[in-house]
Amino acid sequence: MRFASLLLCLALCSLAQAAPVSLIPLPAKLQLADGMFKVADDTPIVIPPHDPAARQDALYLVDLLARTRGLHLRLTENTHASSAIVFSRDPKAVVSQAEGYTLDVTPQGVRIVARDDAGLFYGAVTLWQLLTPDAHQGPVSVPALHISDWPRFTWRGLMLDSARHFQNVAEVEQLLDQMAQHKLNVLHWHLTDDQGWRIEIKRYPELTRVGAWRTPPDAEHDGEPARYGGFYTQDQIRDVVAYAAARHITVVPEIDMPGHAQAVVASYPQFGVTGKRPPVSVDWGVNPYLYNVDDATFQFIDNVLDEVMALFPSHYIHVGGDEAVKDQWKASPVIQAKIRALHLKDEDALQGWFIGRVGGYLAAHGRRLIGWDEILDGGVPADATVMSWRGTDGAIKAAQLGHDVVMSPSPDLYLDSVQSDQPDEAAGRNPVRDLASIYAFNPIPASLNAAQAAHVLGAQANAWTEHMPTMQHVEHASFPRIDALSEVDWSPSSVRSWKGFLARLPAQFERYADQQVAYADSAFAALIQVDANAALKHRRAKVTLSNQANDGAIHYTVDGSVPDLQAPLYAGPFTVKLPTTIKAATYASDGSTLAAARTRVLDDASLSSREGVELPNCPGSDFRLRIQPMPDAASMTPVYAVNLFDSCQQYPGALLDGVTTIHADVVRLERNYALAHEAKLVVSRPHRTPYGEFVVHLDRCDGPALASMPLPNPATSGRQFALDASLPAKSGEHTLCLVFTAPTDGPLYAIGRVSLEKHRP
Ligand code: ACM
Repeated sequence: MRFASLLLCLALCSLAQAAPVSLIPLPAKLQLADGMFKVADDTPIVIPPHDPAARQDALYLVDLLARTRGLHLRLTENTHASSAIVFSRDPKAVVSQAEGYTLDVTPQGVRIVARDDAGLFYGAVTLWQLLTPDAHQGPVSVPALHISDWPRFTWRGLMLDSARHFQNVAEVEQLLDQMAQHKLNVLHWHLTDDQGWRIEIKRYPELTRVGAWRTPPDAEHDGEPARYGGFYTQDQIRDVVAYAAARHITVVPEIDMPGHAQAVVASYPQFGVTGKRPPVSVDWGVNPYLYNVDDATFQFIDNVLDEVMALFPSHYIHVGGDEAVKDQWKASPVIQAKIRALHLKDEDALQGWFIGRVGGYLAAHGRRLIGWDEILDGGVPADATVMSWRGTDGAIKAAQLGHDVVMSPSPDLYLDSVQSDQPDEAAGRNPVRDLASIYAFNPIPASLNAAQAAHVLGAQANAWTEHMPTMQHVEHASFPRIDALSEVDWSPSSVRSWKGFLARLPAQFERYADQQVAYADSAFAALIQVDANAALKHRRAKVTLSNQANDGAIHYTVDGSVPDLQAPLYAGPFTVKLPTTIKAATYASDGSTLAAARTRVLDDASLSSREGVELPNCPGSDFRLRIQPMPDAASMTPVYAVNLFDSCQQYPGALLDGVTTIHADVVRLERNYALAHEAKLVVSRPHRTPYGEFVVHLDRCDGPALASMPLPNPATSGRQFALDASLPAKSGEHTLCLVFTAPTDGPLYAIGRVSLEKHRP
C-alpha cells in the first residue's frame, strides 16, 4: 500500500471494516444489522428431526469448527433450544434458486434456511467463515446480519491432474475439503494420460500393473525414484466420491481418448495403432500414441466405462478428446481403410465418429459426455458438453451450436501458469496468471447473446501437474487463486470488487495457515528493486518496495533481521549504503501477515550477477517454463527457467566496466518433452565441441562472441557445474546474449546464476 492510500485507509478502512465479514465467495446479498451473537461450546445446533441430509451438513460444520476454531458444538433435534444455530429446511424458503439459502444472525441466534441439501450446506460453510474471522481459538461473536445467497453458475470446477503426478487419497480429500470451503462443486479428476493410468479397472489389471508406473529419466539419481506412479483402488475411489458427495461436490472422472493414451497402449498394445508396446511416457507434452478404432477397442472402452460409471455417479463423464495428433492414424493402412469404409473426410472426422460412438454408449447408460473443445473439430454428438481450453473460441462456437460449455481457457484458468515472476516463484509455465487476472475472468464471452450465454455452465480452473510433483506445489498453485475463481463462479458480478476481495483475503490466509494449506503469498510478496548499476557506481542504492496486488503495508529492515510490525513502514523509495541486506514483509490492516519476508542482499557480488529465472528470453520465442532439476523432485526449490524452443536468454544492462571474467552456475536438465509437430520450431545452433557450449554474445545474439565455454560430458560430470571464462575489456552497459549450443537431441541446460567478476591481478 502506498503511503497516501495508507493514510486514507487509516481514516476510512476502520469504518469499512467496522464489522469485518470476510466471506469468500461474497454472498449475493448481505446486510449488516445491529448487535452480535456469541457462539461458544454450549451453543446448540438445531437440526430438523429425521433429516439425515441436514444432519450431515450440520456435522460438517461441527467438524470444521472443531478442527479450525477449537469449538465443540453439539447437534440437537429439540426445536425449542434457545440461543441456537438453527438449520431449517423449507420448501418455500425465500431463496428459490437451487443451492441457495438465507442466513440470519440476530442477538438471539443464527438461522439457516434452504430448500435443498446443498443450500443448507452452503449456509453452513458461510457460517463457518463468519465464525473464523481471525486466527483465534474458542468462542467468537458474529455480527448480526442477513444473507440471501445462491450461486451464479452450476459448474464451479477444479481439475486435478493425478496422472502426471499422483496425489494420495488424503491429499485429494484435503483438496476436496478446500473446494467445499469455497463452494466449488465439481472436481474434474484427470485420471489417465500418457504418463500414468491411475484408476483400478478390475477387468484390465495391466492398466495399473503396467500403466500406473513409469521409469523416470535418470531414475535413482539426484533424488529420482527407480519408478514413479501409483493408482487408486476402487475402494479408494468410492471413499473419495463419498467424501466429495458429503461436501456436495460431484467428481467427474476423465478417461482421455483417443489421444493421451500411451499408458493404455503400454498396458495393452492391441488397443494402440502400431502394435508395438511403448513405455509409459516420461515426456510432458503431446505424445503420439492413440487408440485404434477396432471393435475390440471399443469393447475395451465400453468395459472400462462400465466400471467407471459404477464408481462415479456423476451425470457427466469426461472423455478427453484433446491433443490427439493424428500421425499414427495417418500412417496406418488399417485406420485409413476404416476412414474410407465409414465415408469420412479425414482423421478429424474419424475422431468425431470415435467420440460419437463413446457418447452413444454413455447416453445409453443415462450419462452425458463432456470433452475438451477438440471434440468440436470432427462433429460432435448434439448433447455433448464442451470444455473450452484453447482460449474461449471453442466455448463461443459450442454455445452458438447449442452445446453447454464449461469455461476453462488456457492460460487464463490454467493453474500451472506461474502466478508471479518473483525470483522465488514455484515451478510452472509462463505467462504469469496472477490473482487479479483470475479475479477479472469473465466466464461469459461478450460475443454470446443471452440464449447462448445460458449455455455457459460455469468456469473451472485446471491444476495440471507436470511441474507440480507434490501436494505442496498443487496447493501453492491453487490457493488463493481458487478464492478468486470461487467468486467468479458464485458471486453476482454486480457485487464483486477486487479491492473488497483483497480486504477479505487476510482472514482466508489465516484459515489456510490454520489448516496447514500451503497457499501462495505471491500477490503480496515484497518486490525489492534497485537500479543495480547505479548502486554499483555510487555504493548506495535507492530501494523501491512494491507488491503485485499493490496492497497491504510493507515493513522492512536493513540489518538482516526479520521485519515485524514495529519495523519501518515503507512509505516511498529510500536510500541505503552498500553492502546491506534488505528484508521486507507485507502485513494486512489487522496486523496479520500477507506475505512472509523476502530478502535481497545488496553487495558487489549480488548486484553484478543475475539468477537465470530473472533473465528474459531472447526475442523470437515467448515459451518459458520454470522447472525443477528433476521431474519428480519433492522439493519446491530450486527452479530454473528454460525455453524448450530456444536456449537463449538475455542479461540486459550488464555493466562491463572493469569486468574480467564471467562465471555461470549451470544445471543440466532432462529434455523430457514431447513437442509433436512443434518439434520443428526448436532452434538448433552449431556447436564446436561434442556437448555444445555456453556462449556469451555482446549486444546482439548474432553479435560477436565474447566467450564460449564447452559444456562437460554428461556421463562424467555432475548435474550442476560451474563455467568460467575471461572477457575482453569492455566498458559501459551492454546486453549480453547467453546461449546454450548443446545438441537439441541431448539434455537441456539452464542458468542457475551468472556473475560478472572483476578479478584483480
Ligand atoms: C489440455 O490442456 N490439453 C486440455
